[in-house]
Amino acid sequence: MTQSTSNLTNTNTEVREITLTRPDDWHIHLRDGEALPTTVAHAATSFNRIICMPNLVPPVVNVKDAIAYRSRILQVLEQVDIKSDYKTSFNPRMTLYLTDTTSADDIKQAAESGIVQAVKLYPAGATTNSADGVTNLSARTDVFDAMQKYGLPLLIHGEVTETHVDIFDREKQFIDTTLTHMVKQFPELKIVVEHITTGDAADFVLSQSERVAATITPQHLLFNRNHLLVGGIKPHFYCLPILKRRQHQEVLLDVATSGNPKFFLGTDSAPHATHAKENACGCAGCYSAPIALPLYATAFDSVGKIERLEGFASQFGAKFYGLPINKEKVTLVNRPMQIPTSYSYMQQQDVTPLMAGDTLPWSFK
Ligand code: DOR
Ligand code: ZN
Repeated sequence: MTQSTSNLTNTNTEVREITLTRPDDWHIHLRDGEALPTTVAHAATSFNRIICMPNLVPPVVNVKDAIAYRSRILQVLEQVDIKSDYKTSFNPRMTLYLTDTTSADDIKQAAESGIVQAVKLYPAGATTNSADGVTNLSARTDVFDAMQKYGLPLLIHGEVTETHVDIFDREKQFIDTTLTHMVKQFPELKIVVEHITTGDAADFVLSQSERVAATITPQHLLFNRNHLLVGGIKPHFYCLPILKRRQHQEVLLDVATSGNPKFFLGTDSAPHATHAKENACGCAGCYSAPIALPLYATAFDSVGKIERLEGFASQFGAKFYGLPINKEKVTLVNRPMQIPTSYSYMQQQDVTPLMAGDTLPWSFK
């Protein structure tokens, strides 16, 4: 699919199809160990390159950890039952988890490793497995200087963690109190504001040079906090940063479908066993990897912008990271698809995907 609608075809039966370059996922959680057979099979079926988040327990903090984690992923890839083409094109790219003790030398080694694509900043306590995150950002200046020097992007979970700050305001507060200063202090640092959820974050990214970009998840394009809270709490819509009000959803849809290369695909697909989400203290994370592309297609088509999907899903992220565009293609068709109610996950467990049991208007051909 190009920016024109030349690859958007109507077949005789009035079913629309789009063929686009196979996408990459610039933000995904695969977890580790027994989770990998499910998450690797789903990620490799949907995407070529992926950026694997480092919030394992314990986290991926240096190149040695990243190499070991990547080889566990590739070992599982060999064993899963998916098309061999998908195995060939799958390329997990790694991240380091920034801690209070990450050194400039860790950054240098990561930049030279060829497999570490970026460094992830979790403010300590912001989300799942973030306890080892950064407690004092101003003490990490040497690390950001090194990232700037070696051209290693910083991926940011942009939320403050102070208990008195309302959960719906945490992203905006992070921008106002932290990010605005960081971009001035490190003018060459490449930054991705991950999984943006507010008009404030979209405006911030738009106001910066091209070295500041953002990923957007399918859930933040398709849903708002009413979906999470009205008519009963729906734990499978609970993720962090939390879904915001409808006006923010509309801005996100607007920028994602605008053709602006600052905004690109990052699912934040984050598996938690169903029992851990349907729980008095449910975990944060939406699992979307196997159905992500039909979800995004549904979001883009909802505002009549399906022809803008290819840039968002398959071009802009690669451009930001200085990587080539994939050669493989994928075709989506405007034909209904029922999302499975669950997938098997870990030993004797299951994971419930986003929109489990619902019917999407777009599916894989
Ligand atoms: O909802 C989320 N889940 N947000 C995050 O930032 C982390 C993720 C996870 O690892 O489960
Ligand atoms: Zn994430």
